[in-house]
Amino acid sequence: MEKKKKKATQRRRACVLYGSSAFISIAVFVLFWCTNVFRDAILSNLEIRNGTESFVRWQRPPVGLNVKVYVFNYTNVREFENGEADKLRVEQVGPYVYRETLSRVNVKENCVDGDRITMHTGAGDLRKLGLIQRINGLENHRVWGDETCDRIYGTDGSMFPPHWIEPPDNSTLYIYAKNVCRRLPFRYERRAYSNGIPTLRYKLPSNVFTSTPNKDSCFCSKESYDSASRRCPPAGTFNISACKLDTPLLVSFPHFYSGEDSLFRKVDGLTPRPEHHECYIDLHPRLAVTVDIKIRLQLNLEVRKAIGMPFSGNLDDGLILPLIWLDTGIDDLPESIQLIFHRSHYLVNAIEAGFQWCSLVSAILSLGALILCLKKRDPPIPASFASPPLGICCHATRTE
Ligand SMILES: *[C@@H]1O[C@H](CO)[C@@H](O)[C@H](O)[C@H]1NC(C)=O
Ligand SMILES: *[C@@H]1O[C@H](CO)[C@@H](O)[C@H](O)[C@H]1NC(C)=O
Ligand SMILES: *[C@@H]1O[C@H](CO)[C@@H](O)[C@H](O)[C@H]1NC(C)=O
Ligand SMILES: *[C@@H]1O[C@H](CO)[C@@H](O)[C@H](O)[C@H]1NC(C)=O
Repeated sequence: MEKKKKKATQRRRACVLYGSSAFISIAVFVLFWCTNVFRDAILSNLEIRNGTESFVRWQRPPVGLNVKVYVFNYTNVREFENGEADKLRVEQVGPYVYRETLSRVNVKENCVDGDRITMHTGAGDLRKLGLIQRINGLENHRVWGDETCDRIYGTDGSMFPPHWIEPPDNSTLYIYAKNVCRRLPFRYERRAYSNGIPTLRYKLPSNVFTSTPNKDSCFCSKESYDSASRRCPPAGTFNISACKLDTPLLVSFPHFYSGEDSLFRKVDGLTPRPEHHECYIDLHPRLAVTVDIKIRLQLNLEVRKAIGMPFSGNLDDGLILPLIWLDTGIDDLPESIQLIFHRSHYLVNAIEAGFQWCSLVSAILSLGALILCLKKRDPPIPASFASPPLGICCHATRTE
């Protein structure tokens, strides 16, 4: 009888052990499979605060920008002027390469001087990390004469609020491009691979520079100062005249990629190709930090007879002529950064997966053991699953 009792005690102890083990495994399981606790812990490291590593990286990004400049050389101007050619012939010359090192000077709290750009540091609200809040103290431009188009929204392209890529498949990222006075939307395209890690690729939609009365019409120029009706430029071109003190300039993809046919009517020698002339960003899939970027934009001049063009004899008023295009990217990332990306991808993934699967297996095993243990229980001892610790205690004092 004593022996049997002792055995039963041991069994009860085992049951409690399995029970608590099951409880802990399930708690860990829920934490790692159903919540973002782990991810958020990593993300809170991203907050740009004086003293954090991301502050140092943000203030002095070790990454250089690589700008390739291509110039369009007009090779048959004389023939065109004489009426011997009915199209202007252009030849792409270049690239002329230069490097730019980013540096954000005069950082006080969250304010960057130059054009005074105020960015959100993520302090208090990680959901706004990196968002440009004001430029020279203003939350809105007064460029387009419309509230929607004048709104300043988006980041500078180096990082994004992490929740913007959650879930990646249906998200749009916004970069605020000061040079063209507007935000640029990047839509998720596909998974890619760059700088040694898998990335999420977001692309500038090919119709982004096409404004119509139904889409982005607030970027089109007003017919007159107080008129409500607006006139949109040819599809595939974006009129930045209002943004550039009325200089007759338009922006487009290089070689008028995705532009309408009329743009090619008077200009020969352009060869638009998606693979060379598109814009995209590759993001770290967890941190939403830019791993790779390609911004390719062309600057075009609108012929205005009144202004007195050098060769305007044969040129129609309003003709759009390509001048140059810029291919901006980042240099090969320094090894230290690659290592950080690599680690934060593979190591963090491995740790998270480890916890996820271990907790799952351990939950299953301990639950199984607990069930077995409860089933095997001797009939005379009342089994109370609800309060096993108490039962053990009382029993122990009685037998010893
Ligand atoms: C531009 O074209 C002209 C005429 O064909 C040529 O003489 C000149 O060398 C070209 N310039 C460059 C930089 O290729
Ligand atoms: C950051 O903190 C250090 C000391 O902790 C200080 O010397 C420095 O001026 C601070 N920088 C900014 C931009 O606040
Ligand atoms: C994608 O996003 C749009 C707008 O944010 C939303 O209306 C739509 O339901 C989303 N689709 C999916 C599949 O999540
Ligand atoms: C561009 O905008 C300016 C005013 O901002 C306007 O005068 C000009 O006609 C526009 N050009 C085109 C091609 O729409």
